[in-house]
Amino acid sequence: MLFIGIDLGTSSVKLLLMKSGGEILRTVTEEYPVYFPQSGWSEQDPEEWFNGTIKGITKLLDGFDGKEVGGISFGGQMHGLTPLDKDGNVIRRAILWNDGRSESESQYLNNVIGKKNLSAYTGNISFAGFTAPKVLWMKKNEPENFAKIDKILLPKDYLAYRLSGVFATDVSDASGTLYFDCANRKWSSEMLEILGITEAQLPKVFESYEAIGKILPDIAAQLGINPDCLIVAGAGDNAAAAVGTGTVGNGGCNISLGTSGTIFIASSNFKNDDDNSLHAFCHADGGYHLMGCMLSAASCNKWWMEDIVGTKDFAAEQTGITTLGENNIFFLPYLMGERSPLNNPDCRAMFVGMSMDTKRQDMTQAVLEGVAFALRDSFECAKKMGLDIKSSNICGGGAKSPLWRKIVANVLGIELTRTQNDEGPALGGAILAAVACGEYKNVEEACKAIVTTHVAETPDPELTAKYEAKYQKFSKLYPMCKEAGLW
Ligand code: XUL
Repeated sequence: MLFIGIDLGTSSVKLLLMKSGGEILRTVTEEYPVYFPQSGWSEQDPEEWFNGTIKGITKLLDGFDGKEVGGISFGGQMHGLTPLDKDGNVIRRAILWNDGRSESESQYLNNVIGKKNLSAYTGNISFAGFTAPKVLWMKKNEPENFAKIDKILLPKDYLAYRLSGVFATDVSDASGTLYFDCANRKWSSEMLEILGITEAQLPKVFESYEAIGKILPDIAAQLGINPDCLIVAGAGDNAAAAVGTGTVGNGGCNISLGTSGTIFIASSNFKNDDDNSLHAFCHADGGYHLMGCMLSAASCNKWWMEDIVGTKDFAAEQTGITTLGENNIFFLPYLMGERSPLNNPDCRAMFVGMSMDTKRQDMTQAVLEGVAFALRDSFECAKKMGLDIKSSNICGGGAKSPLWRKIVANVLGIELTRTQNDEGPALGGAILAAVACGEYKNVEEACKAIVTTHVAETPDPELTAKYEAKYQKFSKLYPMCKEAGLW
């Protein structure tokens, strides 16, 4: 049997074909644009997600027998508001996870409804990127669109709907809406009332490894896929990446250096910290997880390389960087504001400390280090909760850079492992599809059979000490700028 994993990312959709037993046969990537209509806003056209996916599946299956595809599942960018009318048409472009327009609605939720109540209803507090404040933003700013809403989907759930005709979501992605009661794995009636929406406007909730239905006959015929192929709920991209890297069960950690940067800690029980500084969400394996999410990680380097330096050869720009721990330039990576743990969509990025002898490569180094320092901010929140993380997997586009991995390992002072094939969410999606098709008893068993990891970086005590001193300086910069009224 064959399985397809679809990772609906922010810059592209990545598709992966896996055969029974876990061998990866092919991967395909299709890019699409992100629209930034205003500073701090970000949107995508769901039709472009769907078209990219169909094109991608066609390329993925070229030369293989589509009739052998038993299941398709997903990892998807989280939180994106994808509103549909009564005919199943998209009402407006999706408002994405890194869009900060709903800050005042988010503040209303945190300050008027109150963080304590939000935490009791959902296990979390509000961040502008979450879906609930976006619903309030749409209600206030686009009442005519709001009135048309028949269903509110998350990005990957829109793909699942187009492939199966079923309105469904999974527990891990639903967790990022702030209208889902994570501890009890169901929609929160209190939050629905606060937002003025009904459960009928929401998709049915499944566990990530459950089938929501079968592929629609016309799509099956178009793609040459077995009409009995199961469409499986899938997971938010971080939970799917955790499955793809074997971060399931209790205590494992995965860092993702993608457009966003995340630290993901798997847990068999639901828990959160007093300040809700880390997200407390459901996991795709039937358990839970804690997560810190920074809004711009690999995207900082992409912006610096492509838009400012003007090159696509990222590796060449990194070859001359040898003075780790000695750089006097700092970079605050807040190009789209920041989520964890600052919760400030209005802050912005900056370089600090240049002199007449500063070279472009010092600034490149500062970008890589700034992202690692900001990840450390979330890592510190986990430490405050008493979690003692000594090792983590690392995945995502940024993790392909040996230099960046070395910086992250030494800034966090932990060992980093990588998977053999270096696939994250798309492999996670394929594994979830295999579980739904009965190839494995559960997600943990599937990960044990399919995912293997090796040690990629070990921290060097001397460099870790140097970075410790730099981090102490870095961590004073944001509060100083905030105090000065910059944002
Ligand atoms: C997680 C988050 C991001 C997106 C990126 O909370 O917002 O990681 O899922 O795709």
